[in-house]
Amino acid sequence: MVSYKDLGLVNTREMFAKAVAGGYAIPAFNFNNMEQLQAIIQAAAETKSPVILQVSSGARKYANQTLLRYMAEGAVEYAKELGWEHPQICLHLDHGNSFELCKSCVDMGFSSVMIDASSLPYEENIALTKQVVDYAHKYDVTVEAELGVLAGVEDEVSAEESHYTRPEEVIDFATRSGCDSLAISIGTSHGAYKFKPEQCKRDPETGRLVPPPLAFDVLHEIEKKLPGFPIVLHGSSSVPQEYVDIINAHGGKLPDAVGIPEEQLREASKSAVCKINIDSDSRLAMTAAIRQVFDEKPGEFDPRKYLGPARDEMKKLYMHKIINVLGSDGKAE
Ligand code: G3H
Ligand code: 13P
Ligand code: ZN
Repeated sequence: MVSYKDLGLVNTREMFAKAVAGGYAIPAFNFNNMEQLQAIIQAAAETKSPVILQVSSGARKYANQTLLRYMAEGAVEYAKELGWEHPQICLHLDHGNSFELCKSCVDMGFSSVMIDASSLPYEENIALTKQVVDYAHKYDVTVEAELGVLAGVEDEVSAEESHYTRPEEVIDFATRSGCDSLAISIGTSHGAYKFKPEQCKRDPETGRLVPPPLAFDVLHEIEKKLPGFPIVLHGSSSVPQEYVDIINAHGGKLPDAVGIPEEQLREASKSAVCKINIDSDSRLAMTAAIRQVFDEKPGEFDPRKYLGPARDEMKKLYMHKIINVLGSDGKAE
């Protein structure tokens, strides 16, 4: 049993309370490799922003969970080396799908876990979430749950259409499950194709898709039912069109990729939404930078010469999200 407290990590309780009260959101960035982690920590340290490092089941399979855990531990020391005296870094399991997986993360030093039982019937979602909460809270590990279903592919959970979270269920769910934060469905979804072209309008000048707005009415209803309770948005990449353009101009093929407009994420950050999940945007930044090097310098074969620019681009992206979208800069001085 390893306690996250001995690794210098923090859980989400205080981060979220401050974020809700202060009208900003904490960035939750997924990581799978060293360059992503370096870029996240550099951006958080430079902006003094609290940050959540997310590990998905896919990341655990790809990079090995033990290695990822030690990388997160190393990240705390790295942050200090960069001059961030009191780093606020949370290590979080993204989309945990079983009690055993959540338990193993608690036992190996994660400070927060998500149990995503949103595909189960309501009562089973409550029961499984409560089982995880009962275990995690013994070690002061915080638990994120999910109610409602996001469109698209949610790890092993797939849904043809999103089912918005029903505001009339949230009080009962939060009270009986005991979760510390709640991921809701208001129109976001995972990946770089968040809407089908037929769900969007097309800007006649640019030819780009303009997606339908998020269901802010549902969010506000939920906030009224659970005042001050931490709300989480998954699937919140904005799919920056400049990256899509670079990728497509250098041999990639991402036609009509579309995300959540950043103004809407900024608006959500000012509400009870206090955690915003971003993964796809980092993948796009990395892919754009690497494709550009490969295309422009075909003789290059030193990985540092393409992973380096990719890391720089991701850092730029993370800093932009922190400062201009979520407003979490300066909140972990
Ligand atoms: O929620 C999904 C995240 O983007 C993680 O994706 O399962 O491919 O690692 P992944
Ligand atoms: P994106 O695919 O929009 O980046 O969402 C990531 C996410 O929700 C991770 O849990
Ligand atoms: Zn997610």
